[in-house]
Amino acid sequence: MLKSLSWSDDFAIGIDIIDEQHKRLFDYFDEIEHCIKTNDQTHVIDICRGLIDYAVSHNTFEESLMKQANYPMLDAHHLVHEAFKARAYGYLDKITDGADPMKIARDVRTDIGLWLINHIKREDKHYAPYVKKTLNKGFVTKMLGRFFS
Ligand SMILES: [Fe+2]
Repeated sequence: MLKSLSWSDDFAIGIDIIDEQHKRLFDYFDEIEHCIKTNDQTHVIDICRGLIDYAVSHNTFEESLMKQANYPMLDAHHLVHEAFKARAYGYLDKITDGADPMKIARDVRTDIGLWLINHIKREDKHYAPYVKKTLNKGFVTKMLGRFFS
C-alpha cells in the first residue's frame, strides 16, 4: 500500500502557478483517500474524474508554457503526457464499463499518485529553469483562461 500522498516542498519546482496546480492534484488524492477510508462510492467516481480532467488540463497548460519558452524537450515531455492521458482515461473507461469503483479508486490513487511524484521530480523540474526565463503574467492569465475555463 502506498504511503500517504501529500505535498512536500521537495516537489516545488519554483514556479508558483505550477506548484499551486500540483498542490491541487495532491488535494484530489486526499479526497480519494477519504472516500476509500469511508467507502464512499457515491463521490469516489466524480473525484477520480475530477482528478484526471484536472491533470490533463494541467499538463496541457504546462506544455503551453514550455512552448512559449522554446523548451528543447517539449516533444518528449508531450509524449510522456500523452501516455499518461491514455492510461488515465483507461481508468475512466473501466468505470464506465462497470468495474468496482473502489478498486479503480485505489488503482488511480497508487498509479497516478506514483506517476505524478516521479514526473514532478524529474520532467517538470527539468523544464522549470527554461520556463522561468520567459514567464510573464499576461501569457499565464491567457493560458489559464484557455485550459481551465
Ligand atoms: Fe509535466
